[in-house]
Amino acid sequence: MKVIDPCTLVLFGASGNLSRIKLMPGLFRLDQAGRLPEKMAILSVGRSQVSREDWLADIKSMLDAKFPKGYDQAVFKRFIERHHYHANPPDDPSSFTRLKETLSDEAIFPQNLAYFLSVRPSDFAAIVDQLASVGLTEEGKYWRRVVVEKPFGTDLKSAQELQSSITKHLKESQIYRIDHYLGKSALQNIMLQRFANTILEPLWNKDYIDHVQITNTEQLGVGERTQFYDATGALRDMIQSHVLQTLALTAMEQPASLNPDDIRAEKIKVLEAIRPIPVDELEKYAFRAQYSSGEIKGEKVPGYLEELGDDSSVVETYAALKLFIDNPRWEGVPFYIRTAKRLHEADTRIAIRFKKAPLQLGNGQDQNWLIIGIQPRECIKFEIQSKIPGLDIATRTIELDGANRQEGDETIDAYEALLLNLMEGDNSLYLHISEVEAQWRLVDPVIEAWAKDRKPVHQYPAGSSDPEASKVIFEHEDQFWRYSIALGGDKK
Ligand SMILES: NC(=O)c1ccc[n+]([C@@H]2O[C@H](COP(=O)([O-])OP(=O)(O)OC[C@H]3O[C@@H](n4cnc5c(N)ncnc54)[C@H](OP(=O)(O)O)[C@@H]3O)[C@@H](O)[C@H]2O)c1
Repeated sequence: MKVIDPCTLVLFGASGNLSRIKLMPGLFRLDQAGRLPEKMAILSVGRSQVSREDWLADIKSMLDAKFPKGYDQAVFKRFIERHHYHANPPDDPSSFTRLKETLSDEAIFPQNLAYFLSVRPSDFAAIVDQLASVGLTEEGKYWRRVVVEKPFGTDLKSAQELQSSITKHLKESQIYRIDHYLGKSALQNIMLQRFANTILEPLWNKDYIDHVQITNTEQLGVGERTQFYDATGALRDMIQSHVLQTLALTAMEQPASLNPDDIRAEKIKVLEAIRPIPVDELEKYAFRAQYSSGEIKGEKVPGYLEELGDDSSVVETYAALKLFIDNPRWEGVPFYIRTAKRLHEADTRIAIRFKKAPLQLGNGQDQNWLIIGIQPRECIKFEIQSKIPGLDIATRTIELDGANRQEGDETIDAYEALLLNLMEGDNSLYLHISEVEAQWRLVDPVIEAWAKDRKPVHQYPAGSSDPEASKVIFEHEDQFWRYSIALGGDKK
């Protein structure tokens, strides 16, 4: 357990949705686990005037909603004493000077300061500017860290603009860019399973691997967020961030150590080695589609365009890319990545198909698969060929199935890990600007080309599996999406 300095978490947007469902409950659970330093205060900043008493009652309501079966009252007492509220009305020019005065009370607020910007992305730069204008970002005897929520820009240009704005006041080591997927224990496990086992690494390359599939699908539709979604799309929302980070962890070289800088250096290298997608041959590399009406868990659901109320939208709810990594390990190995809403199942996984075995019996035997399940099932599975007992020489596929999560294991929300790392000063689970830039650089040309192409987008019925039409991106006839992690999930 790392020692954490006494500190104050200054939470902008503390009354918002993210704070209610993730940040406050996450901080409470960290307190319950004894992981918050004894001297730690939480100062919530919002635009409206709220008394401390009302604010504490609101925090209680957040915890009541999150933990309906109740929670430890002794921990609650300790937790609630940490909390304070500061109103920053947007029309008050002295609000940040007052914030500085509030924070200067050392008896209440330890002077190491972490600012969590859980506000609209358009407010990130302005808040950093205002903090800096009153000297609240300067490090000296004490550290200053700033967490920037997702998304960091909406394309490469806006990401670089945000970066140049905040780096007027902050060093890279002070900036913590969120991709909350990295806080998931199952994602961290990819690196551990690869490098803490001898048997995987020798096979983890172009000599043995035929192709890799990285999948993130949901049964959920866009729900209430139609306007947000139509301005974003699946490629920007999921692939640019979570799916490419999963790819980086799957494909990176072993870091020199588990230090944050070494881990991030290897992720940057592999992300920068992904070959740009040729826009003049886009249909061979990228596929998009939209869900139409269909059935999910036996219930009829409307299609995306109906939900949006605009049938001219070409925004994708299904996005798939074929990528190649130009380095010696992965030369020629296709990485197929996809994300979708309203598919037949919700699943996040990495599925690796190995090359054909030297011994072929001529009965159409399957190739080996290795599957790392991330969500909902955390597991590692091998599919191997084995003789069917009997007089004849014939094989069938059997699976070795290891559950990564066992009964009694702790369930940690990604934000708990991220908040703890923030206080520890460990930014390995946060994105370096070079990762963000490499990710935007890769997807931007596809997003632009898709936005310009106004032809109606391919439709797939809600609740179906992958559209057959997505076959166009595969390199070989015998390659297609694996439908599930279950045995036989490589066949329809
Ligand atoms: N919700 C999620 O699950 C989720 C997931 C991934 C990423 N994110 C990101 O997290 C951030 C917050 O999302 P959210 O869903 O919580 O948004 P939200 O519900 O709209 O909450 C934002 C809060 O920010 C406060 N606020 C706005 N301007 C402020 C300012 N200048 N200073 C202080 N507080 C200010 C508002 O409260 P007052 O009116 O009281 O000031 C509001 O409650 C966004 O960047 C979003 O992209 C959210």
